[in-house]
Amino acid sequence: MADDPASLTKETFISKVPKKSPLMLRMIVLVFAMVCGVFICSVCLKQISTRSKVGFMKVEVIDMPCSKPTIDPSDAPFVHFPKPTTYSRAECACHPVRYFAILSMQRSGSGWFETLLNNHTNISSNGEIFSVKVRRSNISTIVETLDKVYNLDWFTSASKNECTAAVGLKWMLNQGLMQHHEEIVEYFKRRGVSAIFLFRRNLLRRMISVLANSYDRDAKLLNGTHKSHVHSHHEADILAKYKPVINATLLIPNLKQVEDTTTKALEYFNSTRHIVMYYEDVVKNRTKLRDVQDFLKVPQRKLKSRQVKIHRGPLSNQIDNWEDVQKALQGSRYETFLNADYRK
Ligand SMILES: *[C@@H]1O[C@H](CO)[C@@H](O)[C@H](O)[C@H]1NC(C)=O
Ligand SMILES: *[C@@H]1O[C@H](CO)[C@@H](O)[C@H](O)[C@H]1NC(C)=O
Ligand SMILES: *[C@@H]1O[C@H](CO)[C@@H](O)[C@H](O)[C@H]1NC(C)=O
Ligand SMILES: *[C@@H]1O[C@H](CO)[C@@H](O)[C@H](O)[C@H]1NC(C)=O
Ligand SMILES: *[C@@H]1O[C@H](CO)[C@@H](O)[C@H](O)[C@H]1NC(C)=O
Ligand SMILES: *[C@@H]1O[C@H](CO)[C@@H](O)[C@H](O)[C@H]1NC(C)=O
Ligand SMILES: *[C@@H]1O[C@H](CO)[C@@H](O)[C@H](O)[C@H]1NC(C)=O
Repeated sequence: MADDPASLTKETFISKVPKKSPLMLRMIVLVFAMVCGVFICSVCLKQISTRSKVGFMKVEVIDMPCSKPTIDPSDAPFVHFPKPTTYSRAECACHPVRYFAILSMQRSGSGWFETLLNNHTNISSNGEIFSVKVRRSNISTIVETLDKVYNLDWFTSASKNECTAAVGLKWMLNQGLMQHHEEIVEYFKRRGVSAIFLFRRNLLRRMISVLANSYDRDAKLLNGTHKSHVHSHHEADILAKYKPVINATLLIPNLKQVEDTTTKALEYFNSTRHIVMYYEDVVKNRTKLRDVQDFLKVPQRKLKSRQVKIHRGPLSNQIDNWEDVQKALQGSRYETFLNADYRK
C-alpha cells in the first residue's frame, strides 16, 4: 500500500486543483447571478408597483369621484355617464343619464308635450334641432349633432344643469328621420337611445292645424307675428277664427299618406326601445305622463305647461266647407274623425 508520496501529492494536487477551482467559480457565478437576479427583480417589481399605483391613483382621481349606482344588466345599454367638454357634472357625475328622442309629426301636440317634459327638473328636451337643414344634410352631420346633444354639450333654453337625468330632442319624421332610418336605428341601438313616439289619433284635426298654421305664417294674425303655439285663450281665439277650406278630393289620399308614414316609422324603429303616446290620450288624462316618466326612469313629478290649445270645440265650427268634408269621409274608415270626441 506504500505508494509514492510524491505521486500521491501530485495526484492529490492535480486532482484537487482542477476539481476545486470550477466548483468555487461556479459558486461565485451562481451567487453573483442570484444577487443580480434578485436585484433586477426587485427593481422591476418596484417599477411595476409604482406604475400600477400611479395608474390606480389616476383612475381614482378621474373616474371615481363618487360611487356609481349598481345597474341592472338589462338596463345597462340605456344608462350613460356623459362627460361634457365645457363643464363638469360636479356632484351629479355619477347620476345616470338616459338618451331619448321624441319622434313625431308637425301639429301633433309635440310642442306642448315637450314643454311638459321640460317642466321636469331632470329632463332636458332641446327642441326641433333638425329643423335646421344643414344638420340633416347627411348621416355624418346627423350623428355629429346627436353626439353633441347626448354628451350634454348642446345649449338651448331647455338645457338643465349638471343634474340632467334624461336628455333628448324633438324630431319630426320628415326631418331626415325616415330618409336615413337605417343608420339612425343603428345609432339608437348602439348608443342606447329610447324613442318616444307622439302621434295624433284624429288626423283630420291635425290637418286643420297644419292648414291654419301655414295660413298664419303669411297672415300673421297676432298683431303681425306668426305664432305656432300660444299662451292665452285670447290669442287662441284669434288664431281659431280662421277656418280653412279642405280639398275634399284630396282629403282621403292625404289622410292615408299620413297614416302610412306613421305605420312605416313604427316598423322602422320597432327594434329600438320605444313607447307610443297619443296626443289625445295625454289631453284627456294627464296621468299618462307618468308612463313617460317611468319610461325615462326619472322621479315622478307633476308636469305643467303654459301652452293653450288653439282649436277647441266641435269640428263643424273649424272647417269652412264642413259639409263637403262630412260627405267625403262618411262611410270611409276615417269617419270617426268627424265625431265630437277628443273635445278639449
Ligand atoms: C314647472 O311649471 C311650474 C308652473 O308653471 C313652474 O312654477 C316651475 O318653475 C316649472 N319648473 C321647471 C323646472 O320648469
Ligand atoms: C334632479 O335634479 C336635482 C336638482 O337639480 C338633483 O338634486 C337630483 O339629484 C336630480 N335627480 C336625478 C335622478 O338625477
Ligand atoms: C355632409 O354635409 C356637410 C354639410 O352640408 C358637408 O360639409 C359634408 O361634406 C357632408 N359629408 C358627406 C360625407 O357627404
Ligand atoms: C295686439 O295689440 C293691441 C294693441 O296694441 C293689444 O291690445 C292686443 O292685446 C295685442 N294682441 C295680441 C294678441 O298680442
Ligand atoms: C283639389 O285638388 C285637386 C288636385 O290638386 C285640384 O285639381 C282640384 O281643383 C282641387 N279642388 C278644389 C275644390 O280646390
Ligand atoms: C314589432 O315587432 C314585433 C316582434 O317582432 C311584432 O310582433 C310587432 O307587430 C312589430 N310592430 C310593428 C309596428 O311593426
Ligand atoms: C290615465 O292614465 C293612467 C296611466 O296610463 C292609467 O293608469 C289610467 O287608467 C288612466 N285613466 C283613465 C281614466 O283613462
